[in-house]
Amino acid sequence: MIGKICGTGSCVPKGLWDNQKLMELVDTSDEWVRERTGVARRHIAENGETTASLAAEAALTALQNGGIRAEQVDLIITATVSPGDLMPNVSCQVQKKIGALNATCFDLNAACTGFLFALNTAQAYLARGIYQTALVIGAEILSDLTNWKDRSTCILFGDGAGAVVLRAGETGKYAQVTYSTGEKGNVLTCACRNQKRYAAGADAPETYMQMDGREVFRFAVSRVPEAIEELLKKEEMHIEQIAYFILHQANERIVRSVVKRLGANPDKFPMNMEEYGNTSSASIPILLNELNRKGMLRRGEYIVLSGFGAGLSYGASLMEW
Ligand code: ACO
Repeated sequence: MIGKICGTGSCVPKGLWDNQKLMELVDTSDEWVRERTGVARRHIAENGETTASLAAEAALTALQNGGIRAEQVDLIITATVSPGDLMPNVSCQVQKKIGALNATCFDLNAACTGFLFALNTAQAYLARGIYQTALVIGAEILSDLTNWKDRSTCILFGDGAGAVVLRAGETGKYAQVTYSTGEKGNVLTCACRNQKRYAAGADAPETYMQMDGREVFRFAVSRVPEAIEELLKKEEMHIEQIAYFILHQANERIVRSVVKRLGANPDKFPMNMEEYGNTSSASIPILLNELNRKGMLRRGEYIVLSGFGAGLSYGASLMEW
């Protein structure tokens, strides 16, 4: 059995912070941020919006889009690095909010590769016939982990959630490659606040995201094309056969560099980080939902999803829409 996406959804907070707003917080400029990252605005959670509330809203719209009732869902996996609460997990909170009474629910943390790894995990359950209908969600409130005094990171991130509903069927295609390189873990870190609070103070810089931006950049522009090329070779497919490459929306320059290294058509690499910034595990499903809602994804066509992030980890998945 293979899971096919039958519905997509997304939800972003109402609060909108443009680059001018960040100029009030750190020494930066709209021009610098747009030029180096492609980001113009990001949505920031306010007024009680939580990772679980955004995730539940995205899940509901995905179910509606797919014509699936909440009781039909057997499995909910939420990828997140910013769950808000440690217990209960975000997936159980979503289950409660949407009434998915029959679902088994757990969260998964693989940072910006999280949605991809969650999709792979759901596909494995569907392939074995253990479950038939799965909700896969990427949801983040990164503003909570962002050091708003650090201009090298705060300009990048935003909040949001995206979700897909998978239904098991006899036909279709799904293939993946994944890698984790734990020895490079120190390149992108965020220490657990609950542990560090007593030792270093709640506002200690290490309890916010810290990043060697250049190192992450170098990692992404070499490993993402390698993973895509490996996947296509393994599946005996050519780059021309892929309708869209849906990459993690970290930085416009990273996407452009991947296009160049692959020698691909840039029109096949949609981007939306201008509007949302880097929403970590939510970025791929938010973009997927945008393309779906615009009618750009056609049944029978192939798409490639590719992510990279803290861990470090990265991967690519090929699926028939
Ligand atoms: N505004 C103005 N100037 C700035 C800013 C800012 N916000 N930030 C840094 N600068 C300055 C630096 O101080 C430096 O000045 P100097 O030359 O006088 O020393 C100069 O700009 C260049 O700094 P670099 O760090 O070399 O800038 P770079 O072009 O590498 O861009 C960036 C930095 C945008 C962070 C880039 O490295 C990047 O996007 N890296 C990838 C990050 C990423 O994608 N992370 C997410 C991974 S996914 C996850 O799991 C969360």
